[in-house]
Amino acid sequence: MKYANQYFRNADLVLTLSGAAKKNGRKIKEMDLGFMSKGSIWCENGKIVWIGKDKNLPLALVKKKSVEYNLKGMTVLPGFVECHTHSVFAGHRADEFEMRQNGRSYSEIAAGGGGILSTVKAVRKAKNLDLLNQAQQRVDQFKQQGVTTLEIKSGYGLNLRSEIKMLSVIKKLNGVRITSTFLGAHALPPEYKSYERYLADLGQSYLPLIKKRKLADRVDVFIEKGFFESVAVSNFLQIAKNLGFAVTLHADQLSLSGGTELAVDFHADSADHVICVGDRQIQKLANSQTVAVLLPAADLYLKCAYPPARKMIDAGACVALATDFNPGTSPTQNLNLVGLLARLNMQMTLPEVICAYTYGAARALRMENLCGSLEVGKSADFICTKKDWSELFYSVGARDIDATYISGKLSAAL
Ligand code: NIG
Ligand code: FE
Repeated sequence: MKYANQYFRNADLVLTLSGAAKKNGRKIKEMDLGFMSKGSIWCENGKIVWIGKDKNLPLALVKKKSVEYNLKGMTVLPGFVECHTHSVFAGHRADEFEMRQNGRSYSEIAAGGGGILSTVKAVRKAKNLDLLNQAQQRVDQFKQQGVTTLEIKSGYGLNLRSEIKMLSVIKKLNGVRITSTFLGAHALPPEYKSYERYLADLGQSYLPLIKKRKLADRVDVFIEKGFFESVAVSNFLQIAKNLGFAVTLHADQLSLSGGTELAVDFHADSADHVICVGDRQIQKLANSQTVAVLLPAADLYLKCAYPPARKMIDAGACVALATDFNPGTSPTQNLNLVGLLARLNMQMTLPEVICAYTYGAARALRMENLCGSLEVGKSADFICTKKDWSELFYSVGARDIDATYISGKLSAAL
């Protein structure tokens, strides 16, 4: 007989992240991970109804029927939230990697018609089913690493038909909670000569249709010199906001281009990359609700500077980490690598990294009321590992996760 109630009992240690949630993901210390030994979670219809020490289970719940799960020997923490990916694409760009090794820059390759535009060619040609099958395998890869919520961007179609094709593929993916972002403003499509003209078309015809068909939750723009410059995109972002889209921006990755400040001005969910910024931008970000999404795997592949994470965190910014998985600048889905780079090259502490991949990332998607910490009322999205929490984001290639639950349902058992 099946009951809607589930009782996950007696984990050796639960990291609730409740302290991180109280502090809005800012200035995280070890105690903000919310350690609870002999922790148990009562879950009804996929939501956490009670969380505490097993011996303190309220009488009202003791009397209820439930399916029990014994978590003895496990460390439990919120499911990882992967908040910035380009997981739908066709082909690969291994040739560009070698070109960069031979001295050509990412921007030079892009200006020569390669880069994003070479993936655009491949995506336009690709059959829907092939795109879907490849993307589903990538989603499964994330799931096996404990990802319970995944953001995926369009942006390799750059015409209405192919952008809709990408967004429709994203809608069909399953296995984890997925949120989609429209990145039509990723590069200038070959059919256009003017960024302004393209942005006007995106605002006037693409956005209303995407809204009507509920194909995306948010809108993103690649703000960069040689791509979309910040002054030109304000109108477009305003249209997006008026239609009810949330906003996120690729900001100040290769040069100080105004993206971070624009993100704050538009109350964006997040400003992503945030590398070429000075004290003014950092302070403005720290004083805002906009989350800094840091993508160090892209910095590794591009051999460019890492974001000033220490300065941002110390100034009080809420920080998230993500893979930026894409065929050009970050052809990796490895969360451990991202966390490791943050620790080694951005001087982030392990508690900061754990928060950045759970609560911080949930905030970057404005989903912190649903996931990112284990608290009453939130979705029962959690990871079980036999390892100690200190072993997380430590060994690239290690299989850390023993089971993942999304809304209380077993999603991946390895
Ligand atoms: O986040 N910078 C723009 N977008 C991606 C790269 C996409 C690509 O090169 O295909 C990024 O790094
Ligand atoms: Fe990106």
